[in-house]
Amino acid sequence: MMTCQNSRGDALLEALDALAQISDEPGCLTRLYLSPAHQRAARHVKSLMRAAGMQAEIDTVGNVVGRYSGSRDLPCLMLGSHIDTVRDAGKFDGSLGVLAAIAVVRELAAAKERLHHPIEIVAFGEEEGVRFPTNLLTSRSLAGRVRADEFEVRDENGISVREALAQFGGDADAFGLVARKHGDIAAYVELHIEQGPVLEAEGRALGIVTAINGAARLHVDVTGVAGHSGTVPMRLRQDALAAAAEMVLAVEREAKSQPDLVATVGVLDNNSGAVNVISGHVRFTIDIRHPDDAVRKASMRRIETALSSIAERRRVRQKMWVFSESRATAMDRRLIGELEKVLLGLGQSPQRLNSGAGHDAMALATLCPTAMLFVRCRGGISHNPLELISREDAELAVRVLLETVRRFDDAL
Ligand code: HGY
Ligand code: MN
Ligand code: MN
Repeated sequence: MMTCQNSRGDALLEALDALAQISDEPGCLTRLYLSPAHQRAARHVKSLMRAAGMQAEIDTVGNVVGRYSGSRDLPCLMLGSHIDTVRDAGKFDGSLGVLAAIAVVRELAAAKERLHHPIEIVAFGEEEGVRFPTNLLTSRSLAGRVRADEFEVRDENGISVREALAQFGGDADAFGLVARKHGDIAAYVELHIEQGPVLEAEGRALGIVTAINGAARLHVDVTGVAGHSGTVPMRLRQDALAAAAEMVLAVEREAKSQPDLVATVGVLDNNSGAVNVISGHVRFTIDIRHPDDAVRKASMRRIETALSSIAERRRVRQKMWVFSESRATAMDRRLIGELEKVLLGLGQSPQRLNSGAGHDAMALATLCPTAMLFVRCRGGISHNPLELISREDAELAVRVLLETVRRFDDAL
């Protein structure tokens, strides 16, 4: 016999399975910002919000925004996360926070329970920054922290955000309409998988985030001289790919030298790639993160120096530039205290931890008191179709989020 608790966990996992079917690629989950799958997923989430008893619309930058009215004219309690994904993604990153929030409102509505504060849920559309060289574009739009020119950047096919947004049914010129003012939101709480191994190692189902690491995303262009692989002696080569390979290892060496620093070369494109051609041009990315922005920036400077000396020795040119950066972001101490009481009230120990991953909460924290709850994920695996949470943890996540909105309704 299915108890209420199990049915919560099962229902959430089923909803996640259903949402994960909406993909741009057959056989795996890839749902990039403003893609056809993002549009289908946004419509799907809008219908789930409405079925749960909310008013729901898709805003002009592609966020799905649902509202469950309160009994008083108060700033809203906002829940949410993102529904865009990386390529070949897991089905929990982002979607868990959106669907668990909808489950909470569905349960309140079914019990005809009306809080004093209205509840809003936002399914943000551009958290991953995979399609366009941007990051947190739609949550920063809501926070009023985005510039008009950011809608002009282009994807690898040369399509601008503006053009893709028009195709999606949005309007880049109206992005200002999305912005909320200070005071509009009493608190933002994001539930998200941890995407790391700490909770599982500590035997905890849930954790409270203290801060989110700062991060920078960079491009590096390496320009050498393309040549015939059979005729150019090794001593005369200006091989962009060999130089880039040495640079990638220099990035790794710097990251290994600094505690808590992580740096990743996730994309490397050898434009002129051919078996019998010496590479003339390579572009690669660097993703670098640390809890302390000053430490991260010092490492970025050391990486730039290292790449310059490699380029000089190998007689190639290199250029490194930042295309996206987010400051380390502390979560709201008062909300952390309230979340601890919620967890203790449910017999859970209030494990605190840092987030190495970025989240839309970084954008919301510039606008209102912000907090995050992490859910344990198997092996800490994420950005990988093997991402997984247990039914019991899924059930607990909904219960904790439900008790959180009730507690925040009284406390704020
Ligand atoms: O890159 C990140 O940390 C997040 O998954 N977008
Ligand atoms: Mn995420
Ligand atoms: Mn992610």
